[in-house]
Amino acid sequence: MSKTDRAGRKKRVFSGMQPSGEAHLGNYLGALRPWVELQSEYDCVFCIVDDHAITAGGDPAEMPANVMDLAVSFLAVGLDPEKAIIFVQSDVHEHTELAWLFNAVTPVGDLERMTQYKDKSQHFESIPAGILNYPILQAADILLYKGEAVPVGEDQRQHLELTRDIARKFNATYGDTFPETEALIDKGVGRILGLDGNAKMSKSLGNTVGILAEPDAVWDRVRTAVTDPQRIRRDDPGRPEICNVFTLHGHFTDDATRADIEAKCRAAEIGCVDCKRILSDNIADAFAPFRDRAAHFRAHPEDVRKVLDDGAERARGIARETMTEVRRKMGLDWRSAII
Ligand code: TYM
Repeated sequence: MSKTDRAGRKKRVFSGMQPSGEAHLGNYLGALRPWVELQSEYDCVFCIVDDHAITAGGDPAEMPANVMDLAVSFLAVGLDPEKAIIFVQSDVHEHTELAWLFNAVTPVGDLERMTQYKDKSQHFESIPAGILNYPILQAADILLYKGEAVPVGEDQRQHLELTRDIARKFNATYGDTFPETEALIDKGVGRILGLDGNAKMSKSLGNTVGILAEPDAVWDRVRTAVTDPQRIRRDDPGRPEICNVFTLHGHFTDDATRADIEAKCRAAEIGCVDCKRILSDNIADAFAPFRDRAAHFRAHPEDVRKVLDDGAERARGIARETMTEVRRKMGLDWRSAII
């Protein structure tokens, strides 16, 4: 993707993350790390999507702390308010307004086809409309800022295709307004498997490692990781190609060490526990600077508050402009009848 448009303006990148507390390894590799890389070269807007999170039905009393914890994770990994707009979705009411207006151009059948809807709706006897309409709000998030590129993990691909459909439909009905958003999904990290080695790493499945966990806590999690099921005794030869621990090594270990681990695993010179220990140490080392920065922000919550307040102010500026245009195009400007 080119970094600028024809006028030489930096392209707009938008992405969001649900506040379920501290970010985990999957969030980091699939989203936060690319966001940090993109923030210097693009005009970036990053959002903590608490309006989305209410559809998961969590305890409202936990939401404020979850938002703060995620904001600390954002800043700890190096997102920089000098380079990117960082804010909380519910601070900018235009998100929910635009989502409502997009109801006018979104077929219910498209929403019912979403894989995430099909999965999530199985947990309910009476399905909340918010679960069905979730991707409309996601499209509104992106298009409110006329986002041209959206860095996400593989699980979000279908929602981004729907975002393009909504933009197209809106443009065809009301006149050219929104760009066709491109999904930025990094092949190697688009779907990080959880420690169970079976499902996507996800807080709700309890198969995660937190990015701000202390080394002992990282080890407590990594030691539970599932390895090659056929390797029962230490002197059984391992099969790194089917072992999720070995895959995870790829993100935290240099090529030479990884090749060494691979050879020793095949030759049964290294056991699974040793292999997990190396991974755990490397993860804890890689995230040490994040823990230090997080400690600073936890001790200074007023700094976090300022980042989010300033971010919301800047986001509202862009959002208001888009909404004025959208309302006018949809005829929601009755004052124009008075000449
Ligand atoms: P969420 O909060 O579930 O996840 C945030 C980001 O982390 C990525 N991710 C992963 N990537 C690789 N492997 C994993 N195991 C893994 N787990 C999570 C996700 O793909 C995502 O990029 N609906 C979105 C939030 C959202 C959004 C938006 C995203 C709301 N509005 C607008 C982009 C643009 C979600 O629930 O992500």
